[in-house]
Amino acid sequence: MKRILIIIIVAFILIQFFPIDKSNPVATPQMDFLTIKKTPEKTATLIRNACYDCHSNESKYPWYANIQPIGWFLQDHIQEGKKELNFSTFATYEKKRQAKKMKEAGEMIEKGEMPLDSYIILHPEAKLSAADKKEMIDYFKMVEQDIRITNDLPDAVQKP
Ligand code: HEC
Repeated sequence: MKRILIIIIVAFILIQFFPIDKSNPVATPQMDFLTIKKTPEKTATLIRNACYDCHSNESKYPWYANIQPIGWFLQDHIQEGKKELNFSTFATYEKKRQAKKMKEAGEMIEKGEMPLDSYIILHPEAKLSAADKKEMIDYFKMVEQDIRITNDLPDAVQKP
């Protein structure tokens, strides 16, 4: 029993020598979603607080990211999240992909899948009220439609 405990402690100490890389790629404002869309301040703050840590090049790491394996877990979320959607490079996406991501973003919030539950527990400011959710969903829908209409993409809901 004592030996197992020692092995666990040694392993825990050893993995601390494999920290994560907390540097962010340089964020280019001209590529950033909130900048190019001139998102109204209030909505922008909601999106920044709830999504940007995992879906942008402006991830902020909490102190416990310095403890492994927590840091690995966080980094994995950030890498996976950015692969799906990186607001910092939104301008480089093809228009069709942009529209699709806007649609998915609204759906994720609607279904309560985003922000991830594990994130909300540690970031109370990312907990969205029903009104916050509606504001974000409506905004993403509006941007989606705007992209579809201006680029002649299918699924544009014609305004009356
Ligand atoms: C704690 C990190 C984290 C936060 C915060 C977060 N996401 Fe995600 N997101 C992920 C990860 C990881 C994935 C990829 C795996 C998955 O789909 O669960 C993902 C996937 C997505 C996808 C692609 C889903 C699909 O259809 O495949 C969208 C869109 C998305 N997130 C939007 C958002 C929005 C909008 C917010 C803010 C309201 C948000 N996310 C907050 C980690 C996060």
